[in-house]
Amino acid sequence: MESTLKSPISIERAKTSKIEQVDFDNLAFGSVFTDHMLVCDYKNGSWETPQIIPYGPLSLEPSAKIFHYGQSIFEGMKAYKDDQNDIFLFRPSDNHKRLNISASRMSIPEIPENIFMEGLNALLKLEEKWIPQTPGSAMYIRPFIFASGKGFHASPANEYKFMICLAPSGPYFAGKVKVLIEEKYSRSANGGVGYAKAGGNYAGQFYPTQLAVEKGYNQVIWTDDNTHENIEEAGAMNIFVRIGDTLITGPTSDRILDGITRKSVLEIAASKGIKAEVRTLTVTEVVAAAQDGSLKEMFGAGTAAVISPIAAFGFRDVDYDLPELENSYASMFKKHITDIQYNRAEDPYSWRVKI
Ligand code: PLP
Ligand code: COI
Repeated sequence: MESTLKSPISIERAKTSKIEQVDFDNLAFGSVFTDHMLVCDYKNGSWETPQIIPYGPLSLEPSAKIFHYGQSIFEGMKAYKDDQNDIFLFRPSDNHKRLNISASRMSIPEIPENIFMEGLNALLKLEEKWIPQTPGSAMYIRPFIFASGKGFHASPANEYKFMICLAPSGPYFAGKVKVLIEEKYSRSANGGVGYAKAGGNYAGQFYPTQLAVEKGYNQVIWTDDNTHENIEEAGAMNIFVRIGDTLITGPTSDRILDGITRKSVLEIAASKGIKAEVRTLTVTEVVAAAQDGSLKEMFGAGTAAVISPIAAFGFRDVDYDLPELENSYASMFKKHITDIQYNRAEDPYSWRVKI
């Protein structure tokens, strides 16, 4: 690929590699990092050429606006290696577009596509050996942008850093997923930043999620901030339910992240002739379906979570268990999506991108 950057990406190699210390058969999610990272500065009104440097601590002004006003956004992607050692990304231009949607909402300068894509490709090629091939594992990619510019004035910074770090990762959830339908706290509101991958959206979830964890749940299912009657999404994934043989998920809005896995599930459902409805999904309807036995499945969809079947949900101090189905939609979608991601099957949608 011919570079379209103003100057080549410089690479400063790490003196030693940590790769020998990594147990690739027992990878947790996002807890070990490769030897290098990509850094790109925004200064004097434009993005400079990215650099690849050894992974390590950054030096920042204590008055950098990220620390005070939380001006930061991120993306989540994965790179997959097949048995021929070829490397693939899944719908990467959608992540680039969404990063810029988040950027514009948070008054952060948009990142040009060539910096994002060429920077990511160069980093992945350098760290190729780190991409896991153990089943269920992939290279989790974390592109992010934050305000590095200084000053206590509560206004957008004049300097930013775009960075990419890589973390060879196993599954996001260790076991069965149990969720709690939340009625008190809200993740987002109309006119807010829920649709952006803004760091503060996640920080705001930690406290209510911790309360749910103390009660034995893994994640909160957020409901709309106005009535708490409509199911929106979970902390790190979009939510689908299957009532009878119909798949249902809520519509995206100001309040919900437009998930790439979510839209892939909807496209696969359409191509397989599975009836899918994108519409308001009420808590009352889901509880009634759980009580009359028509609620067959509930699952989360996201890059980190892939397709995570939900074993039970809690609502108003009652737990509702979901049946374990032989041929679940969740397992079918998971197989279909991961077969495309790991280059084990044809990709009729042109989602897979070889790097
Ligand atoms: N919803 C939230 C809040 C998320 O953080 C994520 C993860 O990125 C998703 C949904 C799923 O989005 P995607 O499938 O694009 O990873
Ligand atoms: C992802 O699925 O990539 C996410 O961003 C979720 C993250 C909060 C772990």
